[in-house]
Amino acid sequence: MHISQMIAGITLDRQDRQPLYRQLYAEIRKSILAGQMLPGMQLPPSREFCQALQISRQTVLNAYDQLLAEGYLRGSVGQGTFVNEDLPAIAERGKTKVSDISATKLLDRISRRGLQHMDPRGSTRFHQGSVRAFRVSMPDLDLFPFDIWARLEARHCRHPKGQLGYGDPAGHLALRELLAVYLKAVRGVNCSPEQILITSGSQQALYLLSTMLLDPGEKAVVEYPCYRGTTAALHASQADICAVPVDDEGMDVEYAARHYPDARVAFVTPSHQMPLGMTMSLQRRMALLEWAQANAVWIVEDDYDSEYRFGSSPLASLQSLDTHQSVIYVGTLSKVLFPGLRLGYLVLPEKLLEPMIQAKAVIDKHTSIMPQMTLADFIAEGHFGRHIKRTRKVYAERQACLVNCLEKQLVHELVCGAQDGGLDLAVYFKQAYDEEQIIEAGQKIGLELRGLGHYADVPGKTNRPTESSGGLLLGFASLTCAEIERSVSKLATLFKAAH
Ligand SMILES: Cc1ncc(COP(=O)(O)O)c(C=O)c1O
Repeated sequence: MHISQMIAGITLDRQDRQPLYRQLYAEIRKSILAGQMLPGMQLPPSREFCQALQISRQTVLNAYDQLLAEGYLRGSVGQGTFVNEDLPAIAERGKTKVSDISATKLLDRISRRGLQHMDPRGSTRFHQGSVRAFRVSMPDLDLFPFDIWARLEARHCRHPKGQLGYGDPAGHLALRELLAVYLKAVRGVNCSPEQILITSGSQQALYLLSTMLLDPGEKAVVEYPCYRGTTAALHASQADICAVPVDDEGMDVEYAARHYPDARVAFVTPSHQMPLGMTMSLQRRMALLEWAQANAVWIVEDDYDSEYRFGSSPLASLQSLDTHQSVIYVGTLSKVLFPGLRLGYLVLPEKLLEPMIQAKAVIDKHTSIMPQMTLADFIAEGHFGRHIKRTRKVYAERQACLVNCLEKQLVHELVCGAQDGGLDLAVYFKQAYDEEQIIEAGQKIGLELRGLGHYADVPGKTNRPTESSGGLLLGFASLTCAEIERSVSKLATLFKAAH
């Protein structure tokens, strides 16, 4: 490339928050790395740049200085400035397309176990950009008392009391004591504080369990459809994922027993099936426990949002019915507080305590202490209980508002699923719509839609349950009623156009 072409190709944005010299530096660096400016090529005198790009000489000198310091250029005042010849790898890269080079070779060097972490069927998603209708799994942060949280945290920063060194891998004891009392009172969970292991979100708990309880190829039973965080962790541990259909009573235990007699672990969401929202009936709970006890199957009870039960009080946890220590209880603070906090916990049967605590220490020594201490105070001073009570009322109103709007505006297109609680509502298509098309159309008008198909991509090897006609999971908790009304109107326009 001739140097004048290169200058012509440079665009600098004066509105950008990045200084002009950084932009110029980045443009030149990009050209060198892409092989458009070859080793040995002389750069134009700084005044040529100044004239062509209408920038000051100092801007050009600053960009050159940075590139000289990083070794992309060589030269000195009066001698000219050149692309450094001692960059053979870069020169080579210029001749081949970056994408061709070694992407596949590099992937070859990732372990098989590592590649399993990248399996698209297991991949989880994260929230991007500002909150929009109908983002799933999102509490309303405007309702969170950040002032109180900040005050509690500041107190620990001012008086760290020697607690900020490396701590117990199981977590902050004061928090575990408070959680044990809370879980007993609210969920009937039987445990001592010593049985609680604090994790970095419940995702880490699912990952630890998948790794510690399953050898590659061993069978893990999951609900179908299933939470992607669970299948992601199971893919990573190279487990054989066995899909078991759910109906109005939750997971079909008889199906599991018939098809997967050699399963080692069953992952369930009995309080509020993710994503469809039904509660596992008492009969099914008893059948699941019986099957698990008779066949030495661990049950992982993911109790992710049972605090948000509207109307009736929630059924006690599955763990509370367990007489054989076969249930492992998983909880999270992502719904009741906020997902970015990354706090979750495990309630472990005695025999799993030592191995799981050791594994946790290997992964990250322990979860960050400051949020744990702040949360302990938040619970002890009563803010936790008050926040849950307040948000439960608000979310119940928002769910009712969503159901009402959908029934008014989309009665021919959608039917609502279980409405007992949670932050999201499953809705099913009454006619054959293409989920992907609906999601794309939603994106164009500012709606963040999640298809139920997202949760159905589970590799059931045999007897895969038949697909339903499709639907959406609509998050409502982070939206005001006015936002819900507006967004359902948009959704209605979208469905009418999709006819
Ligand atoms: C079934 C289920 N478990 C757990 C979580 C929470 O995960 P984490 O604690 O890692 O934020 C979610 C969030 O959407 C969920 O749907």
